[in-house]
Amino acid sequence: MSKRPLNVGLVGGGKGAFIVQPHQKAIHFDGTRRVTAAALFPDPKIALEEAENWPYPINGYGSYDEMISANAKLPEDQKLDYIVIVTPNHVHYDPAMKALKAGIAVLCEKPLCLNLREATNLVKAVRKYEIPFGVAHTYLGHWTTRFARYIVQAGLLGEIRWVDSYYLQGWLATKLEATGQMQASWRTNPKLAGGSGCGGDIGTHALMHLRYITGLDVVQLSGQLETFVEGRPLDDHFTTYCKLSNGGKALVRASQISIGHKNDLGIEIAGTKGSLHWSQEQPESVTVCLSGQPDMVYWRGAVTPGDGFLPKNVPAELMAEPTVPSGHPEAFHDAYARLHRCFEADVRKWKAGQPFKCDGSKYANVEDGWMGIAFIETAVKSSKKKGAWTPMPKPV
Ligand SMILES: NC(=O)c1ccc[n+]([C@@H]2O[C@H](COP(=O)([O-])OP(=O)(O)OC[C@H]3O[C@@H](n4cnc5c(N)ncnc54)[C@H](O)[C@@H]3O)[C@@H](O)[C@H]2O)c1
Repeated sequence: MSKRPLNVGLVGGGKGAFIVQPHQKAIHFDGTRRVTAAALFPDPKIALEEAENWPYPINGYGSYDEMISANAKLPEDQKLDYIVIVTPNHVHYDPAMKALKAGIAVLCEKPLCLNLREATNLVKAVRKYEIPFGVAHTYLGHWTTRFARYIVQAGLLGEIRWVDSYYLQGWLATKLEATGQMQASWRTNPKLAGGSGCGGDIGTHALMHLRYITGLDVVQLSGQLETFVEGRPLDDHFTTYCKLSNGGKALVRASQISIGHKNDLGIEIAGTKGSLHWSQEQPESVTVCLSGQPDMVYWRGAVTPGDGFLPKNVPAELMAEPTVPSGHPEAFHDAYARLHRCFEADVRKWKAGQPFKCDGSKYANVEDGWMGIAFIETAVKSSKKKGAWTPMPKPV
C-alpha cells in the first residue's frame, strides 16, 4: 500500500458528542491518518449539516448505511481504510457488522455491543472475513499501562495473588438524565446501554485493565449491581468479587455515584514478591513496592533497564514507544493516538496482504470485547441471585 494517509470514516459524533473529539484528534496525531467521511447523526438532514460544519472538509453522509455502501464505488485512493464507531452502545453492532461485510476494518468503542449474542456474531464475522477489528479501551494506550503489563507478565512481582481494579466517578450521583443531558440519558436506558449501566460503561474498562496487565482471566464471580439514584433503571454502582484463572482473587468494581472521583480508573496488583499501583489520573508513572524496600516510582521516559529491579532485556520496542521525553506529560489524547497508531500498523499490513496480529497486545480486539460483554452478563446473572458465585461462559 502507498504511504498515503489512511482514510477514516466516523459513525456518530455530531451535535455535542463527546468521545468523537479525542478520536478525531488521535486520528490526525501522526499525519498518517485522516478523517475523510462521516455519518454523524441519526437524522440524515442533521448528519449532513453537521458534516458541512465539521472543522475541516469531509464527505458527509445521511447514514452509516450510505457511507458504507458508497465506499465500494469510490476510487481506490478515496476508499475508507477503517471506520471508528462512536455511537451509543445500541448502535455498535449494526455498523460494525455492515463494515465487516463490506471489507472495511473497524475500531469500535466499548462496550463492544449490547449482549453476548451480538458479541459472538461479531467474533465469528471478524474470523470469517479476517479483517482488523479493535475495541477502543483507551487506557491500554498509556505507555505506563504497557510498562505495568511488562513488569507483571515478566514475573517481576512473582505469582499474582490479588488485584483491585476500579473505575470510580461521581457525575451520576444525581438524576442528571432527568435534565436531558445527552450522555447521561442513553447511559441510563437499558435499551440503549445494555444490561448494566455503570458496569457496562466503566466496569468493562476496569476488567480490561486487569486482563491486559496481568494476562489473567476472570473465571467466576460474585456480583452486586446497585442503583442508588431513585428511579434509575440501571445500576450506578457495580461490584464484583472474582476468582482468577491462576487461582488468585480480584475485586473489579465501578461507581458513578462516588462524588469527588472524576475518572478514577486505577489498579493495584499484589504478587508474592511485590506489588504495583497505576492510576489513570496520574498516568505518567507506575509505583512498584517490594517488601522491606523504599517504594519505587517509574516515570515514563526515565526507565533504565538493568537497574537492579528491571532486567537488562526490557523489550526495545516498549522502550521506544514514548513520543516525548519524561516531564512533558502524555495523557488521554496520547493514549488514544497510541491505539490508533497500533491499529493503523495492522490495517496497513492487512491492506498489503501481509499477516497482521490483532492479538490484543497493543489494543483490545474483538475477543476482548466479547469478554467484556460476557463479564457484564455474568455479573447481572449473579446479582439477580443475590451474589451467587457464577462461572463466566466459555469463550467462543
Ligand atoms: N473509551 C472511552 O474512554 C470512552 C469514553 C466515552 C465514551 N465511550 C463510548 O463511546 C460511545 C459514545 O459515547 P459518547 O459519550 O461519545 O456518546 P455521545 O452521546 O456524546 O455521542 C454519541 C453520538 O452518536 C450519534 N448517533 C446516535 N445514533 C446514531 C446513528 N444511528 N447514526 C449516526 N450517529 C448516531 C449521536 O447523535 C451522537 O453524536 C459509547 O459506546 C461509549 O461507551 C468510550
